[in-house]
This record gives sequence, structure tokens and C-alpha cells, in this order.
Amino acid sequence: MSGNLRAAYAEIDAEHVCKSFDRRGSGSPAVDDISMKVTSSSAIGIVGESGSGKSTLVRMMCGLLSPSAGSVSYNGAELSGVLSTRAGRREFRAKVQYVAQDTTSSFDPRRTLRDAVRLPAMRLLGLNSKAADAQVNSTLESLELDPAMADRFPTEVSGGQRQRFSIARALVVRPRILLCDEVVSALDVSVQGAILNMLRQYCIDADCGLVFVSHGLPATAFIARDMVVMRNGVIVEKGTTDDVVERPQDPYTAELLEAYRGAEDIERLAVAATR
Ligand SMILES: Nc1ncnc2c1ncn2[C@@H]1O[C@H](COP(=O)(O)OP(=O)(O)OP(=O)(O)O)[C@@H](O)[C@H]1O
Ligand SMILES: [Mg+2]
Repeated sequence: MSGNLRAAYAEIDAEHVCKSFDRRGSGSPAVDDISMKVTSSSAIGIVGESGSGKSTLVRMMCGLLSPSAGSVSYNGAELSGVLSTRAGRREFRAKVQYVAQDTTSSFDPRRTLRDAVRLPAMRLLGLNSKAADAQVNSTLESLELDPAMADRFPTEVSGGQRQRFSIARALVVRPRILLCDEVVSALDVSVQGAILNMLRQYCIDADCGLVFVSHGLPATAFIARDMVVMRNGVIVEKGTTDDVVERPQDPYTAELLEAYRGAEDIERLAVAATR
């Protein structure tokens, strides 16, 4: 493993990535020639209509999908190579965590939620069970999750609660880059606000980069410093959140903003978040 792979700093570099799910390559690709760099100081929001390729892009960035063309690297090393060794996988997963859009299939139904959250703390950080328990408890606390609830199985909590446990399972290793795919969509607005606030604070305190994928433009605008707008697998607009929200250059971005009635929702969410 190269020296900088062990560094506290984490950087993911996607260069000209494409993903086509069609083996003959005749249909239009889900992601078509996108380049994006994410570091421990990023706070990037990705918005776009359903099917625009947001999840596909993020899944390539964390190695769950391999690009059909282009490359993804982690701290300068090709990600597929990093993930091909046990040590590389462990290093990458300890630094880069992904919270999936669909939480139903992401938990082992035979493990309690506490065990699910404790597992990465032990496996990836090498903590003993006492230290892992302490880390689990402080993570649950920061997400305002009742520790007693952690003794239930994944099917015994609501979708929103399970979503928060999936965030806890990612944060328990104190990652340096967090990739969140629609993590607040299942939550009501006041809980969304609290989670967004907590995520934002965590990223600031832990010097953790964030990629936040969402249909919800207000939530994204609240948490992301920079924003990327996707449509049909390509980036139609990118810039600082202020510029994209206040001075959209692409007609599609303007349309998206219109659909969310702009500042009104953003302000409402920000108010909820500060409660
Ligand atoms: N495993 C797969 N096999 C075939 N096609 C897929 C697969 N995953 C995604 N796609 C297709 O790729 C395109 C992009 O999907 P993706 O899930 O990345 O969109 P998205 O922007 O995340 O949408 P949403 O907002 O609904 O989550 C869609 O047309 C989708 O049908
Ligand atoms: Mg998606």
C-alpha cells in the first residue's frame, strides 16, 4: 500500500467516468463523461431528476460499481486496485463511507441495529468491544437515536429510524469522506432539519468531505457549499450553491428551482434545522 493511502487526508477523483448498463452499449449511458473531485473539505450537493444518474455516479465513486470508461482514484491510486487487497479495502472503507438510498436491503435482518453499527467500528477501526460500544453510543447520541432502539432488528423500526441507523453505521468509523444518497428523503421535515444540521456539524468538526445526493433542492442547498445539477447522465450546471440557486445559468436548473419555489422552502428547512 502506498504511503499516502494511509494518510488522514482522503481524496476521490473521478475522471471522465461513464457507466452504461446496456452491454451492447447502444442505449444512452446512465453516466456520460463526468469528472468530479471530492476531498475531505468538500461539501458537494448533487441534484437532478429521477434517473439522471446521481446514484450511479456516487456508487462508482465508492467502488460499488465500476465505470465502463474513465477512472476513479483514491488518494492518487486507481480505486479498483485499492479495493483488490484486503488492506486497501479496509483503509478505503475506514475513510470513505457511503449511505445508500435504500436502507431495507442494506441491513442484515439477523443482526440487531446495535450489532450492525458496532461491526464497522470493530472491523475497520480494530476497536475492542468495549471501545466499539463507547463509539456506538456516542454516535447514536449525536443522531438523537434512543440506545434502547438499537437492540431491535432492522425490520422492527420505521424507515426513517432505519435511515438514521444507516447514517450512524457510516459515522461510527469517523470517515473523512461521506457519500450520502437521498438520506433524508424518508424523514419528515423537522427530523430532516435535525439530521442535516448534525451532518453539517459532523463534517465541519471531523474535517469530513460530504457528497449529498438529493431530489430535495432545499435540503441540498442547506448543506452543500457547491452544487452539481445532473440531467440524463451529464452535468448541466455546477458552481457554488449560492450561484446555482440565485443565478442559475442552465434553463433546467431554473426549472428545478421553480419546482421548489426557491427560497421559501430553503428558508423553512433552515429554520427547522436550527431548532
Ligand atoms: N443496475 C442497473 N441496471 C440497469 N439500469 C440501471 C441500473 N442502475 C441504474 N440504472 C439506470 O441508470 C439510470 C440512472 O439511474 P440512477 O439510479 O443513477 O438515477 P438517480 O438519479 O439516482 O435517480 P433517483 O433520483 O430516482 O434515485 C436510470 O435510467 C436507471 O434506470
Ligand atoms: Mg438515486
